[in-house]
Amino acid sequence: MNVILLGAPGAGKGTQAEIISQKLGIPTISTGNILREAVKNGTEIGLKAKSYMDAGKLVPDEVIVGIVKERVAQDDCKNGFILDGMPRTIPQAEALVAQDVKIDKVVSIEIADAVIEERMTGRRVCASCGASYHVAANPPKTEGVCDSCGGELIIRKDDAPETVKNRLKVFHDETEPLKAFYQKMGIVAEVEGNQPIENATRDILAALER
Ligand code: AP5
Repeated sequence: MNVILLGAPGAGKGTQAEIISQKLGIPTISTGNILREAVKNGTEIGLKAKSYMDAGKLVPDEVIVGIVKERVAQDDCKNGFILDGMPRTIPQAEALVAQDVKIDKVVSIEIADAVIEERMTGRRVCASCGASYHVAANPPKTEGVCDSCGGELIIRKDDAPETVKNRLKVFHDETEPLKAFYQKMGIVAEVEGNQPIENATRDILAALER
């Protein structure tokens, strides 16, 4: 099953993608994590992406489309994958269609902007593997240390309140129209994002079975 998790920054896409990926045994493709890794390693893509990411803007479509095309062609995606954070624009969604990447379900995680702004201040991410935590809603077992890999937990640069406002504006302007794009294909399921993590997981799994 090929799944897209759609939702505003901070809606819980990354958190849910990791859980669902383990439950279904299919990989997560997080363009945000791929880009952050590229920035950390100083690759050509990373150098291109950094200024956009720091400002809360979208990285140009051609960069993203190239990354995802390569990733979905890998062997571990044969039985399905979860796209977390891609597509973000109509041209990105059209590129998937043009590449014959079939999407079975789009789960739209619904959440109000005010809740997101509050959530972002408590987010901590692993500097090594990208796993996402929250100081209150989803704390690590040991403060400041990633449960999965033991890496250091840090605050993402683009989680600064002003940048979060920018990211929300970009989401409403450029990404939200994707819901209608996929609704025309009849494959969208809406899930409430403002509920405990395990309840959102339950609702997503139920939506994937429908
Ligand atoms: P990306 O990393 O994709 O960021 P995002 O979409 O803004 O999403 P986030 O990672 O901020 O949030 P999330 O929905 O994954 O929430 P999370 O689970 O972490 O992209 C970053 C940047 O890269 C973009 O701004 C852009 O520049 C670039 N980029 C990436 N993809 C691109 C693309 N396709 N095209 C162009 N540019 C692209 O949860 C957030 C917090 O809430 C955490 O602390 C978590 O623990 C907590 N939380 C989660 N669920 C719950 C819950 N149910 N209740 C309480 N707290 C919860």
